[in-house]
Amino acid sequence: MAILEVRNLNYFYKDGEGKRIIFEKAEASFEQGLFYAILGESGSGKTTFLSVIAGQDSRYEGEVLFKGQEIKQIGLDKYRRTGVSMIYQNYNLINNYNAVDNIKIAMDISENVTKINDDEIYSVLEELGISKEKTRRKSSSLSGGEQQRVAIARSILTDSDIIVADEPTGNLDSNTSDEVMGIFKSLARERNKCVIMVTHNERLAEMCDVIYTLDQENKKIVRA
Ligand SMILES: Nc1ncnc2c1ncn2[C@@H]1O[C@H](COP(=O)(O)OP(=O)(O)O)[C@@H](O)[C@H]1O
Ligand SMILES: [Mg+2]
Repeated sequence: MAILEVRNLNYFYKDGEGKRIIFEKAEASFEQGLFYAILGESGSGKTTFLSVIAGQDSRYEGEVLFKGQEIKQIGLDKYRRTGVSMIYQNYNLINNYNAVDNIKIAMDISENVTKINDDEIYSVLEELGISKEKTRRKSSSLSGGEQQRVAIARSILTDSDIIVADEPTGNLDSNTSDEVMGIFKSLARERNKCVIMVTHNERLAEMCDVIYTLDQENKKIVRA
């Protein structure tokens, strides 16, 4: 069964007097345990789509269903705290804080976490290749790949079923990108997450289980 369904999605930006339509009756559906690519050129609406499914933008028409319930009905605030976590191209860590503190702040906000256990934080970071020594450094002193691993650890530990990533490897070299792709795949396989990654890179999209393409002409999202 789909954990996330997009039905009859309409979205437009006001553009001077007129409007710029991004989606018109677009449909998509996502399951746990799979790694999805949303593939589209720059300007095709990828970030707009992610913002809608991550509960960050309410200016859409149609339905976004999380476990069968419209996310506006759940409450976008609550949905963001419990249903979904977001990974960005620029990692979005607090630069002056170390890895563990960055993760703890997010865990404080999330409603999924009942008790915060340092050992579990270290063990997830270690699993992703961040040694204990590195967890004590300011996050700004870590490499891009390391910072993205911390951001991924943060999304694992806040324990949402959906992980949404906007061009997460955009600032990484191709070896590090491939490693991060491998981590996403294992989040789907081993932790039963629904991982949705936006990219303009066909090579990366082909590493995913399912590819959705943004069809700009028809304003639809097409499953390849
Ligand atoms: N706030 C906004 N107001 C008007 N147009 C916007 C706004 N945000 C994005 N757009 C336009 O909508 C289109 C899709 O943007 P976006 O979703 O960011 O695409 P992508 O992430 O695929 O590059 C682009 O043409 C962009 O210029
Ligand atoms: Mg974008």
